[in-house]
Amino acid sequence: MQHKLYYPNPELSKNASVKSMDEYNELQNFAKRDYEGFWDSFAKEKITWKKPYTKVLDDSNMPFARWFEGGELNVSEQCIDRHLEKNGEKTAILFEGELGDIQKITYNQLSVHVNKTANLLRERYGVTKGDRVVIYMPMIPEAAFMMLACARIGAIHSIVFGGFSSDAIRDRVIGAQAKLIITADGAYRKGKPYLLKPAVDEAISKGGCESVKNVLIVKRNNEEINIVEGRDEIYNDLIDSYSDKCVAESMASEDPLFLLYTSGSTGQPKGVQHNQAGYILWAQMTMEWVFDIKPDDIYWCTADIGWITGHTYIVYGPLAAGATTVMYEGIPLYPDAGRWWKMIEELKVTQFYTAPTAIRMLHKVGNDEPDKYDLSSLRILGTVGEPINPEAWDWYHNKIGGGTCPIVDTWWQTETGGHMISPLPGATPIQAGCATLPVPGIMAEVLEEDGTPTPVGEKGLLCITKPWPAMIRNVWGDPERFKKAYFGDCKKDGKPVYFSGDGAMIDEKGYITITGRTDDVMNVSGHRIGSAEVEASIGNAEFVAESAVVSEPHDIKGESLCAFVILNLTEHAGFEEMSKEINNIIKNEVGAFAKCDRFVFVPGLPKTRSGKIMRRILRLIAVGEEITQDISTLEDPSVVEAIIKATQEQS
Ligand code: PRX
Repeated sequence: MQHKLYYPNPELSKNASVKSMDEYNELQNFAKRDYEGFWDSFAKEKITWKKPYTKVLDDSNMPFARWFEGGELNVSEQCIDRHLEKNGEKTAILFEGELGDIQKITYNQLSVHVNKTANLLRERYGVTKGDRVVIYMPMIPEAAFMMLACARIGAIHSIVFGGFSSDAIRDRVIGAQAKLIITADGAYRKGKPYLLKPAVDEAISKGGCESVKNVLIVKRNNEEINIVEGRDEIYNDLIDSYSDKCVAESMASEDPLFLLYTSGSTGQPKGVQHNQAGYILWAQMTMEWVFDIKPDDIYWCTADIGWITGHTYIVYGPLAAGATTVMYEGIPLYPDAGRWWKMIEELKVTQFYTAPTAIRMLHKVGNDEPDKYDLSSLRILGTVGEPINPEAWDWYHNKIGGGTCPIVDTWWQTETGGHMISPLPGATPIQAGCATLPVPGIMAEVLEEDGTPTPVGEKGLLCITKPWPAMIRNVWGDPERFKKAYFGDCKKDGKPVYFSGDGAMIDEKGYITITGRTDDVMNVSGHRIGSAEVEASIGNAEFVAESAVVSEPHDIKGESLCAFVILNLTEHAGFEEMSKEINNIIKNEVGAFAKCDRFVFVPGLPKTRSGKIMRRILRLIAVGEEITQDISTLEDPSVVEAIIKATQEQS
């Protein structure tokens, strides 16, 4: 179904960074005509270089693109120091704790915090350029100080989302051979203190983390925690004695900035590596184009710093653009479903960026809550991470945006570093559920595997056919996996191009609609989860022989997980009891967000003769749809009937 087009509000267009489709086309044509010239002009204008680059793009060894070679910079200077002269007293981070405590941290104060922290890491723990630091923190300003302090001394941070288990911390510590873990005692959630530090202790006690020499702990809720003498130290006790002046390391454009692990279709999560110059340039440019950030704006992205959205659009992008970025510690339902709307009123938020899952949830549990607050400060709304259904879009557009704020439906990924396909609020007519057009400079195309364009209205592969500055540079320590995972599926003009893993459809206007993953990656509440990870965890229940996990549509979460499980025992506990036990294992090994909503205990799984599980068939069975595809190629076609029967009996 084609949805109505909403044209940009002329008032907004008048002052927008990109004011019309003509301006959009001019920019995109510039990039098409002279790709390097396009990026050169922005890199020169936007980045404060310590040493100018000598080459814009080196694509001679694709897929390993190199941007702005010869150049040197420091990302923390790009985000802080260069704003101090004119905007030192402007609020950089506007923090609100779940209990209502507010901190306004100016750029001057941020500079002091980051420099002191950088000195502490350097002098006390000997952290230097290229060292890896794992950060496992709640949503408090210190999390941003830690990221920027690492950037200042050239250390590579690897943030582990606070909802992940100790196993995830351990895997990432081992993967990166991290020298230091930075954490907090805990934070506040649902009005109560909760703890993070025990998961770090558990991770280390499991063995294999010998690279870690110290654990630095930020005090947030003053709960009692275990301190290991000689290893663990409290940040708050130490920080005052460090200088607030810190010489920033001069980093080459292509030195790594951070690692962020994300789920893929096979095996364990991949350490996505982002480098310095290209990443920060694109983070800043998209803040200006997609969020149309202006000097007096109060910009709020509700993500967690543990995900790429938090990296690029809470910390690096807004600060590089010299904006005020709101950071909120807690959940949207505390103390009630009006919390976010109250914050928008009180903080006078101008741009609000969140996930469709949150919109659906707040619509369902608090439809009238927005009416209690004045949301007229809002100018632009955004969504990210998953498709937004028309009903949620309409509610967001009308109830939150008063029918006048444009919604930027931003499509991108951990690997892309920043926005790739999105409306520009002053230029692009928007449409519910549609990410619309590539951001200028991005060559996104919907293609067949052989690189021919997919016809209008048909599903194809969403590919990016030219390297872009913020693209993933490598899978940490595994260049072969990098090539295979992203450049193995689609070729254009005989050359491998980046395939996102998403399917998409293009319409006659050139608008791109994302149709969802084409691989075994699932998306629960905007969290990316690989079936292989959950299956590995289920396999650790001693009564499980094998399992296959698929997703099925869910009203609020977008997708929920359904596991088909083969038992290795004939005598066993009840299904309910076993389901609980498996979910406990998933919670401990992956995280609570990866728990399965449904388990079906089955006698077998649909496998091809080469042993590959046909998850497509399981997806159809989960939703009760008829199987029309040919199943004769299965090793044992009769298993399909048996799975259908078990599913019906157990539902
Ligand atoms: O399937 C797409 C979906 O989220 C995936 C990327 O997940 P992650 O790396 O965790 O990054 C999420 C935040 C950028 C994509 O492959 N996705 C992301 N944005 C959208 C989306 N699906 C539909 N519409 C979007 N706007």
